[in-house]
Amino acid sequence: MAEDAAAALFDRLKTLDLEMSLIGPDDLSTRAPGEHPLNFQGGVMALPHTVEAVSDLVRWCASEGIAIVPQGGRTGLVGGGISRPGELIISTAKLATIEAIHAAERTAVVQAGVTLQALQEAAAEHGLTTGIDLPSRGTATIGGMVSTNAGGILAFRNGVMRHQVLGIEAVLPNGEIFSDLTRVVKVSAGPDLKHLFIGAEGALGIVTRVVVKLESRRTERATALIGVPNAQAALDIVGHFQARPEVLVEGAELMWRQFFRDAAGIFGFDAGWLEEETPAVLLLELSGESIERTMELFEAGLETLWEPLGLTGGIVAQSLDQARKFWQLREESEFIYRLHPAALSYDISLPPSYLDTYVAEMRARLAAVDPAHSAYVYGHIADGNLHLSITNTANISAERALEIEAAVYSGVREAAGSFSAEHGVGQEKRHAYETFGNPVKRLLARQIKAALDPNGLFNPGKVPF
Ligand code: LAC
Ligand code: ZN
Repeated sequence: MAEDAAAALFDRLKTLDLEMSLIGPDDLSTRAPGEHPLNFQGGVMALPHTVEAVSDLVRWCASEGIAIVPQGGRTGLVGGGISRPGELIISTAKLATIEAIHAAERTAVVQAGVTLQALQEAAAEHGLTTGIDLPSRGTATIGGMVSTNAGGILAFRNGVMRHQVLGIEAVLPNGEIFSDLTRVVKVSAGPDLKHLFIGAEGALGIVTRVVVKLESRRTERATALIGVPNAQAALDIVGHFQARPEVLVEGAELMWRQFFRDAAGIFGFDAGWLEEETPAVLLLELSGESIERTMELFEAGLETLWEPLGLTGGIVAQSLDQARKFWQLREESEFIYRLHPAALSYDISLPPSYLDTYVAEMRARLAAVDPAHSAYVYGHIADGNLHLSITNTANISAERALEIEAAVYSGVREAAGSFSAEHGVGQEKRHAYETFGNPVKRLLARQIKAALDPNGLFNPGKVPF
C-alpha cells in the first residue's frame, strides 16, 4: 500500500539522528505540491539543515536502497520533481542562506535553496543583479535552476544558468560531497565536471551550494508593447536597439495574437492602440542613462522602424505601474490553463531566423491533425525560445497526443534547435527525449548515470532514459 510505504519510511527517518526537519504523509498531503500535482506523491520529505546532513542522509538512503527525489521550489513544468510512494523527497528549503556576496568581484556564494528573488534582492543592495531572470523568481531556487539549466528572460544576452555558474557543490549518490566552489570564470584544469550537475535534473547529485556570477543592475528602464507583423520584425527591432550604445536590451518577449488577445481579455488590458488582427505583440524593455532619455530613444527608434517593418501599434509605458501591467500580460501565462485546463504545453528553441517559418509550418501540421486544435505561442524571442500551449486536448487519445507532439517537434532538430529549451525533460517529455533527442547523447548520459548512480536511486523515472 502506498500510504504504508510512506508511513514506514517516515517512521524509520524519525529514528535518525541528523540535523534535519521531517514532514510526514499527513502533513504533506495538506500542503500545495507546486507546479505538478504528483510532486508530493512520495508522502515523506526530509529538509536537511546542513550540507553534511544531506550527505549523511544520502549515505543512509544508499545503504537502505531508498530512492531520492530532490526538490527546490517545485516550479518545474515537466514533472522533474514527481515522487512516488517509498521514495524520499529531499528538499533544499532549509539550505537557504546567502553565504557571501563578493561585490567587487561580482559573485555570490549561496546555498541551493535560496530563491532567485532573494538573491536578486541581496545583490541589489550592491547595485548588482543575477544575469538570469524568470517569471517564477519568487519561488524557483538557485539549486533547481542549476539542475534544470534554467533560461528565462535574459538568456539572449547572458546565456543560460550554465553560463552564470562559477562553482558547484553537490552531494553524490554515494553520499560523498563534490565540492568545486571556484569563484573564477576561467578553469581550464581538465574536464569541468561541475557541468555534469547542470541540467541533470537531480539524476547525478543534489546541488547544495552554488557560486553565481552577478551582473550590473540597471534601473533606468523603459518598457513598450509593439505590434509586429511577424517574428522577424520583432527581431529586427531588437537588433536595432542592440546596435545602439546608449541602451541595453533588458527583455524581448513576443506574444502571438491568440496569447496577447486572451491575456489582454483576462487582465482587463486596453489594447485600443493596437491594430486589430495584429499577428504578434513584442514586449521590449530597454535600460539607459535615465528613464527620460531611454523613453526618448525608444520612441525615436520606433518611429524610424515603423514603416520599414510595418509595425501595427506601439505604446511606451508612462509609469512603473504601467510597465508592470505589460509584464503581467506576458509573465502570468497560467491564464491559458484557466481557459484551457487540459492544454498541452511545449518549450522549444530554434535559431531565431527560422521562427516565422516554423510557426507557419507548425500551425499547418496542427491543422492537418485536427483544425479544432489551436496553439498559443509566446516566448523569449531573441534567443529563439518558444512556449506553445495546444488547446482542445481534453480527453484526447494517446495516439492523438503523439500526433500533436509530432506536429510541434517536427523539424526542430533538423533546424538545429531543441525539443526542450529551458523546462527540462522530467517525466513529461520522456517520449520526446527518446524520439527527438540525440541518440549518442542519450547513450552517453546513461553511461555517466550508471557510473555515478549504479543503483539508480537518484530521481528515478526521470532523465536519462
Ligand atoms: C515562461 C515560462 C513558461 O517563460 O518559461 O513564462
Ligand atoms: Zn520561459
